[in-house]
Amino acid sequence: MAKILQRPLLLLTVAALLFSTVPFSNAIPFIVFHGIGDQCSGGVSNFTQLLSSLSGSPGSCLEIGNGEKDSWFMPLMQQASVACEKVKQMKELSQGYNIVAQSQGNMVARGLLEFCDDAPPVINYVSLGGPHAGIAAVPKCKSGPICDIAEAFLKLEIYNDFVQDHIAPSGYVKIPCEMTKYLEHSQYLPKLNNERPDERNSTFKDRFTSLHNLVLVMFQNDTTLIPKETSWFGYYNDEGLDTLLSTQQTKLYREDWIGLKALDDVGKVKFVSVSGDHLMIAYKDVLEYVVPYLMQTTL
Ligand SMILES: *[C@@H]1O[C@H](CO)[C@@H](O)[C@H](O)[C@H]1NC(C)=O
Ligand SMILES: *[C@@H]1O[C@H](CO)[C@@H](O)[C@H](O)[C@H]1NC(C)=O
Ligand SMILES: *[C@@H]1O[C@H](CO)[C@@H](O)[C@H](O)[C@H]1NC(C)=O
Repeated sequence: MAKILQRPLLLLTVAALLFSTVPFSNAIPFIVFHGIGDQCSGGVSNFTQLLSSLSGSPGSCLEIGNGEKDSWFMPLMQQASVACEKVKQMKELSQGYNIVAQSQGNMVARGLLEFCDDAPPVINYVSLGGPHAGIAAVPKCKSGPICDIAEAFLKLEIYNDFVQDHIAPSGYVKIPCEMTKYLEHSQYLPKLNNERPDERNSTFKDRFTSLHNLVLVMFQNDTTLIPKETSWFGYYNDEGLDTLLSTQQTKLYREDWIGLKALDDVGKVKFVSVSGDHLMIAYKDVLEYVVPYLMQTTL
């Protein structure tokens, strides 16, 4: 998926680094999760540094396995579990921390938030183009051997156990009209979203509801997420691609399976819509919708 950093951002990073003073005193640290086909080194590190300079808070990109390859092939349950163990070992996070996640990184971040036992608290969570309610088509792979393998797998049926075990994004593919299969065989999203009526876990909901702020950024020209409204937990109804439900019309929200409504009712959810294609966030939007949530210094 598209890299977030563009040249003007790079220049501003340098400027911010030069002018930042006395950083990190009493600041709440943050971690960044990258998207599929990406890795911490390179653009995402630069983005992390930029956020750190602008907010005055220490931040790091948390890598799962080897990055690019594992982002495709390690099942999300395992990715969330790796994140859980890493976070618990980072002493600097023990008093609480903030999360910024890009695209598929939101599946890992939310798994960490909901499933991780004895973890330090997550304070603010900024989601950039997250496929929260699922996607109706697998994201395009760029090119190269990883893509060849991924695409070969994906010629199989998406809810096949083998595919579910080996291709990370299959964990949040949700084909409208195939809800029975989805609920039976999808290994990740139904659990993350407390979708199975007989398996709803109130602990996941309690943890999600404990956030101080949830910022859901949707890209108006997102051509990667289908539908782009999934970034706000909006999705198609179960009959097909003709009807798109707004966040508030979904059962997840109305019946409050994970606490999204509870958070929204007390004004803790910011539904943000920005211009640009998937993850192509403009500098002014970083300043307006990301940085303020990393600047809080007291809990
Ligand atoms: C990240 O920053 C480094 C050094 O500032 C630069 O060399 C590199 O090109 C940047 N990477 C991306 C992907 O922007
Ligand atoms: C819900 O999840 C928590 C945390 O993972 C777990 O300890 C608990 O056993 C689960 N409850 C049920 C009813 O499955
Ligand atoms: C977004 O897409 C619309 C059409 O779907 C187009 O008219 C507009 O120029 C695009 N905007 C950007 C910033 O790409």
